[in-house]
Amino acid sequence: MSDDSPWWSRAVFYQVYARSFADSDGDGVGDLDGVAARLDYLKLLGADAIWLNPVTVSPMVDHGYDVADPRDIDPLFGDLDALDRLVTAAHQRAIKVTMDLVPNHTSSQHRWFQAALVAGADSTQRDRYIFRDGRGDDGALPPNNWVSVFGGPAWTRVTEPDGNPGQWYLHLFDAEQPDLNWDNPEVFEDLERTLRFWLDRGVHGFRIDVAHGMAKAPGLPDMEVAENKLFSDPGDDPRFNVESVHEIHRFIRRVLDDYDGAVAVGEVWVYDNAQFAAYLRHDELHLGFNFRLVRTEYEARALRDAIDNSLAAVALEGATPTWTLSNHDVEREVTRYGGGATGLARARAMALVMLALPGAVFVYNGEELGLANVDLPDEVLQDPVWFRSGGRERGRDGCRVPMPWSGEQPPFGFSDNPDTWLPMPPQWASLTVERQLGDPGSTLSFFRRALKIRRGFTGTGTELQWVDAPADALIFRVEGLVCALNAGAEPIALPDGDVLLTSGPLVGGWLPPDTAAWLAPVRSVSSAARCP
Ligand code: GLC
Repeated sequence: MSDDSPWWSRAVFYQVYARSFADSDGDGVGDLDGVAARLDYLKLLGADAIWLNPVTVSPMVDHGYDVADPRDIDPLFGDLDALDRLVTAAHQRAIKVTMDLVPNHTSSQHRWFQAALVAGADSTQRDRYIFRDGRGDDGALPPNNWVSVFGGPAWTRVTEPDGNPGQWYLHLFDAEQPDLNWDNPEVFEDLERTLRFWLDRGVHGFRIDVAHGMAKAPGLPDMEVAENKLFSDPGDDPRFNVESVHEIHRFIRRVLDDYDGAVAVGEVWVYDNAQFAAYLRHDELHLGFNFRLVRTEYEARALRDAIDNSLAAVALEGATPTWTLSNHDVEREVTRYGGGATGLARARAMALVMLALPGAVFVYNGEELGLANVDLPDEVLQDPVWFRSGGRERGRDGCRVPMPWSGEQPPFGFSDNPDTWLPMPPQWASLTVERQLGDPGSTLSFFRRALKIRRGFTGTGTELQWVDAPADALIFRVEGLVCALNAGAEPIALPDGDVLLTSGPLVGGWLPPDTAAWLAPVRSVSSAARCP
């Protein structure tokens, strides 16, 4: 890495879903002191930074993505002192802390929204949100046909202070998450206050939630999209990816530029390369989340295309690539790739692919343990997706089950309280951090080795060369490292080179199915991969 590369250009961000990481006060929900107490683990793993999912004040309808006060910590997670303690302790270990920022909407409990309800139509208080009169007789129909990403209509009608049914407000997510009006300068001013509040406390930047949201198509025209889910490509959807969103990102960037090393990484569900890259212009986001690997099947050709496309997109603006296989919104990759031993083998293989790629990576807590999604009973589900879809979609709770740290039974050292906010499966006894640290063959040991080797490779930029490979495999060379993935059913010959690490046992010079390998130094790899 050249000396002037920003710290995040090859960083390993470790995503801490605070509810599920470590509970210090025995209420069955993770918290900030719990994270601080586990920082040595993150150091051992080799994380450069933490991305903390929302820990600000919230009624927790969407587990913190419904923010009632963006400049204070929710008591469930601790308080401002706990956040300061965490930042200090992290810095002592050379780990940076980044936080989630939720600018598209607030909680309905936010004092602004409460004031808007009381103030009535055409008030300055309502102008901070998107209130409209309804259509049809007595305004009984929603202002347009927009639907919520979580299911159901994107509009809810309020009861006016006089007790009559009145205006409607827009919420692209849950009804308890009203969308802010980004045509209102007060909304910008308040965001700046929030950014500086946390940056002044030593936070190194933000993961920006729904960063392609916020701005809405002028006039709020009806939508015509068939697919409407988290991570759907917005296409011509008037709810997302509207040109004026870039002004918001330029605004955020101007504030961040006042702070050395501050980074903004946006959650941008936009898959057109040019449109995605537009968010990464030099005066907008530093990094854009790249969901292409998450959305791609375990199939060599498709994976290769996803990688090529990802690199081509960021190259349009000379920006840094990012990679992720998992987060708190998607099925864990062990499950996505087929579950059981096969799913785990594939997830490990894909971890090597991801960690070999140039740029920054995001590892979701528990990914390094090889955790799979948990099949939870209906009665414990909490995700608004489950409720708003009328039980048709199970939602995201299955990937949010607390981390197993130690011991032989739930709550596995996560908490002193057996009644954890989501139940933990007894089968995780063999997957605890404690157990895996002591086992050189474990997924955790494998991740630690991979992250250590990765740190030894110092390249930046997007240089990646494909090497000829059998149809079911992919092989690429990047900065003196060769990565080979066998996604097929037959063993393939390993490329030449010294084997640094494999995701599973090798058979002689052959790479078994569902296995990846890292090799160095590179001698001749071009003709090495042949089918037996
Ligand atoms: C983002 C978050 C998700 C949340 C949604 C609404 O997609 O990752 O968890 O539900 O935004 O804020």
